[in-house]
Amino acid sequence: MHTQLILLPLLLLTIQIILRITKFLTSPLRNIPGPFWARFSNLWYFNRLRQGQFEHDNIKLHKQYGPIVRVGPNHYSISDAATIKNVYGTGSKFAKSAWYDGWKHPAQWTVFADRDIKRHADTRKRFTGLYSMSSLVNYEPFVDHCAELFITRLNEFADHGETLNMGHWFQCYAFDVIGNITFGERFGFLDRGHDIDGTIAALQKVVIYSTLVGIFPEWHPRLFKPLSKLKWSGAGGRAYISKFVQDKISAHDQKAQIQTPEPEKNEPQSEQPQDFVDKLMQARQKDPKKVTDYHLFIMGQSNVTAGSDTTAISLSTIMWHLMQYPEVLHKLRQEIEEFTAQGMCSSPITFKESQEMPYFQAVMKEALRMHAATGLPMWRTVPDGGAEIGGRFFPGGSVVGVNTWVAHYDESVFVDAGVFKPERWIEAESRPERLRVMNQMYMPFGLGSRTCLGKHISILEMSKLIPRLVQEFDFTPLRKTWRTENFWFVKPVDFEVRVKRRVSPAV
Ligand code: HEM
Repeated sequence: MHTQLILLPLLLLTIQIILRITKFLTSPLRNIPGPFWARFSNLWYFNRLRQGQFEHDNIKLHKQYGPIVRVGPNHYSISDAATIKNVYGTGSKFAKSAWYDGWKHPAQWTVFADRDIKRHADTRKRFTGLYSMSSLVNYEPFVDHCAELFITRLNEFADHGETLNMGHWFQCYAFDVIGNITFGERFGFLDRGHDIDGTIAALQKVVIYSTLVGIFPEWHPRLFKPLSKLKWSGAGGRAYISKFVQDKISAHDQKAQIQTPEPEKNEPQSEQPQDFVDKLMQARQKDPKKVTDYHLFIMGQSNVTAGSDTTAISLSTIMWHLMQYPEVLHKLRQEIEEFTAQGMCSSPITFKESQEMPYFQAVMKEALRMHAATGLPMWRTVPDGGAEIGGRFFPGGSVVGVNTWVAHYDESVFVDAGVFKPERWIEAESRPERLRVMNQMYMPFGLGSRTCLGKHISILEMSKLIPRLVQEFDFTPLRKTWRTENFWFVKPVDFEVRVKRRVSPAV
């Protein structure tokens, strides 16, 4: 009996190994180079991801093996401008891969994780207006309010001579802005400065769980239910965030029912800016089939999960690079001063004004090139019939992806890619072909039909805050380098600084 107990698993393991070796030997893609163990199992990729530094690993892999690298038996990381266009371009038939399943409840779908191209396009259509450039004017007061509070907190830190973790405080800011824009109320992070009810921690658990479980997506439905009962787990984090969003929407719904009698025909419309939920509720009232309760829920959830880490990281990278490159900081300050002197920069700066500042725009663009908020390949499945990628034929079902970091550190496009040089974008203006290639490889917000929905909102958040920070404060980082962790979001974990006022606050 004992011998049987040992023999059976051994036999199963042997069969598995033989199957995997046979699969590898008969694959038309068997000669694509990559780490040895990645040929047989996704465990190699899992183990690398677990270490939280995959953006660097991925760049090194391409330096070692060339533009197409295997990272798993059926996963290929690509570094090639033409591929970016083919795989991610608008109208692409490359659906998101099963890795994205880890980013949703097993029985639900969401905008970010949806693998159904048609349904995704249909959902996105309903939401696009809410995130559009023209809606931004409406959200500006929400952002102004949070920026003001952020500045107040910084003044307090400066006055008390205390150090602060900028990454954490930027997340407080991003969370409160998203709360304000989405639900019409801040979550209160900027008031308390700590992780209210463990929301930030819950989100971090979600991203770690989703990143890792997505490598073995068949395990997700099995693990999710038991794990969601455990508060400390990533599945538990998702359950928490879902409930959090649902509660916010219900509270908003109730408030709306109490407060909003239909306005009289000639009554002037309220000046109060409208938040996302307001807008969607109105749309739901107009056409309940087109905008459902579920749409409201997934929009709220997307904003909370996709809109805080990303913006906080991007704000961090801008400030970090300005602290590392004093000559860039000096030029940026000069630009802001000149614009202010010419009456082209109000206090607080408007979004429109910020868009007119070429050096500031270049600084933001370059900082997001140096340190994109997401740092894993954006996996897509090759459609039925296969496709040619980087000069090779990939059969349908193969999984391919470009990592933003790999694209942004391609030396053939970004010379001295490791140097923070906003001027590269300004100089390229006079060389349209060069600029075109640079833009083609520039993808901090993703691309095509799956490009970031919140891009304009996050640019609004950055544009309103950064000019004030550089004008009003001096920052000194406590460390020469910062440590980051990459679980999809490449998050700095020890961005601590000392802050000093540069100008006295207006009386
Ligand atoms: C600087 C800040 C941000 C960065 C760098 C960023 C980056 C990205 C990237 C790279 C993607 C594409 C992912 C993929 O193809 O796998 C994405 C998608 C998305 N982002 Fe953002 N994001 C930011 C801010 C935001 C904000 C503020 C929101 C919401 C208010 C948001 C909502 C979304 C949504 C809903 C998607 C999914 C779009 C789709 O699949 O159609 N993002 N983002």
